[in-house]
Amino acid sequence: MNNAIAGFSKLTKEEKINWIANEYFANPADAVATIKQYWNSDPKLQQLHDEFIENTISNFYLPMGIAPNFLINGKYYSVPMVIEESSVVAAAAKSAKYWSTRGGFKATVLNTEKIGQVHFLFKGDTAKLTSFFDTIKTNLIASTESITKNMQKRGGGITSLELRNKTTELENYFQLHATFETKDSMGANFINSCLEQLAKTLKEEAENYAGFNNSEKDITVVMSILSNYVPNCIVRAEVSCKVEELAEKKIENPQEFAEKLVQAVRIAEIELFRAVTHNKGIMNGVDAVVLATGNDFRAVEAGVHAYASRNGQYSSLSHAKIENGVFTFWMEIPLALGTVGGLTSLHPLVKMALEILGKPSAPELMQVVAVAGLAQNFAALRSLTTTGIQEGHMKMHINNILNQFQTTAEERKIIKSHFENTSISHASVVEFIEKLRK
Ligand code: MEV
Repeated sequence: MNNAIAGFSKLTKEEKINWIANEYFANPADAVATIKQYWNSDPKLQQLHDEFIENTISNFYLPMGIAPNFLINGKYYSVPMVIEESSVVAAAAKSAKYWSTRGGFKATVLNTEKIGQVHFLFKGDTAKLTSFFDTIKTNLIASTESITKNMQKRGGGITSLELRNKTTELENYFQLHATFETKDSMGANFINSCLEQLAKTLKEEAENYAGFNNSEKDITVVMSILSNYVPNCIVRAEVSCKVEELAEKKIENPQEFAEKLVQAVRIAEIELFRAVTHNKGIMNGVDAVVLATGNDFRAVEAGVHAYASRNGQYSSLSHAKIENGVFTFWMEIPLALGTVGGLTSLHPLVKMALEILGKPSAPELMQVVAVAGLAQNFAALRSLTTTGIQEGHMKMHINNILNQFQTTAEERKIIKSHFENTSISHASVVEFIEKLRK
């Protein structure tokens, strides 16, 4: 039985580590050594990482890889990816190279609107609330001036503010529904600060509004927060070529390949169980770049999956068609990303990732991320409809098995050459290692 602890956050880092090591490990000294093994040798850099979050004890490594040869709107990118799944970077790189000889990826940002809401309760005459809102709207926006000043200089700010009546869904429930342009920042802090100011002004103005009776003056602000649903912050990514140009070594019959791929997409469009996995494959690419560039992958995930259900049924994010002998594969996804603020100038590897991408604007990063998602989806569908997914997966996963068995360089050579032309499964690799060692 482990014990609870009071005041953990007030302990020093050393004390926290000792408590964890003594509480959860038979050999505390080993645990402490493992935790410290992943510290940065430069104490200043370690402090930087420590301060990203609360109660830091160590750094959690994930591999950072590069998928080169992404031709997007006529420009080549090497795309940094941070992910633990063994086959993702290889698949991205393979798709990138494949499409680079077929016109590359086209990507377009359709819009960049962010949303935030003040959720409040108003008990009284709705018509009076509407005219109150019309009267104070300019004051509401003006009250955010000190927060929006800098953003406005960069061409951003609050772009609209509406009163929304939600009382048919929930008694007394109204919203201030605001839209924002946050330029190259993801804008979460900016939006939330604006919303909290709007809420404060709303309440103050209501208290002083002569047209309200006492209960109407007493607006209850429930919360003020941005929305991670951004259906008007959309980027489109696309590839397209003549069907016969799809041919390559492993695609001998391009017409059959294209038809099967279109069919696979149609299945994901109408079948929930498949749609979720299909979209997960897209998010393998999306999240890896989102993480590498220091963006909020939970926000992106939440927004993307909500968007996938926007028509009432969760469905494929990507689409494919063959028309007049031309194969087209595309998707539109919402992506609220930033290339300034947040971790972007703090995390040394995030800074590097953005440099590798040529210091993109947020819209340019949206394009790269969407393309990474589409490339990943293409790679998955290509494998699924031809060789099956396990061939590629196991080829990459074999390294994990070899590490698990702490194989020597010599053993690795023998094992890898054996499995070059033999089907790989966890069991077959383990069996081979065991035989080899006998
Ligand atoms: C695995 O991480 C992702 C796939 O399952 C995606 C898909 O099935 O389309 C291969």
